[in-house]
Amino acid sequence: MIKYKNKINIAVLVSGNGTNLQAIINAQEKKILSHGEVKIVISNKENVYAIDRARNHNIKVQTVIKKADTSQDEFEKSIKKILTENHIHLIVLAGFTNILSQRFTSEYSNKIINVHPSLIPSFCGKGFYGIKVHEAAINYGVKVTGATVHFVNEIPDGGKIIMQKAVYINKGDTPETLQKRVMEKAEWIILPKAIEKICIEMLSKNEGV
Ligand code: GAR
Repeated sequence: MIKYKNKINIAVLVSGNGTNLQAIINAQEKKILSHGEVKIVISNKENVYAIDRARNHNIKVQTVIKKADTSQDEFEKSIKKILTENHIHLIVLAGFTNILSQRFTSEYSNKIINVHPSLIPSFCGKGFYGIKVHEAAINYGVKVTGATVHFVNEIPDGGKIIMQKAVYINKGDTPETLQKRVMEKAEWIILPKAIEKICIEMLSKNEGV
């Protein structure tokens, strides 16, 4: 394998519990993720556990709150300022609840990735978020679900797929039991792997220097 001198600087955008952020941090510590480094965590919510997780590992955190009178443009400008100041090459959405505008996603084309708790193109797009995705999968009666890591473009959950992993739905599963299994068996595994893959690809194209 080619040895690269640099690493890809990563920003992780969060809104909640931050278990996917934790999976990224763990992968970094175990060197499963070695071609990128989380430089900053940006939260759009105050007092969420994701912030504690970052601080527990000495990772810088900034909060950018979108108040009722904050426009999407102002909100994104604040995020962009933090990304620029921290020389960020790759943005990872890990349970981030805000839908970024086309202006933002096209500016960072192929540089934003997201984890979604279903096998896209099922149970995805606007309104499909968190536990709602698992409720929809159970209500539909599918037998297999999973998680997807994909690039982010102007279509919610519509960008190119990077990695997917399937998870069986068991008889008697509730949205909560299913969410837990999809996280443990799929999201926390494929998200760090997909990040590493993208970091290597970016370094091979001389990005991140
Ligand atoms: C995760 O299941 C993630 O896939 C989902 O929100 C949860 C966040 O959990 N994201 C979406 O549904 C995006 N459409 P976390 O804060 O513990 O990582």
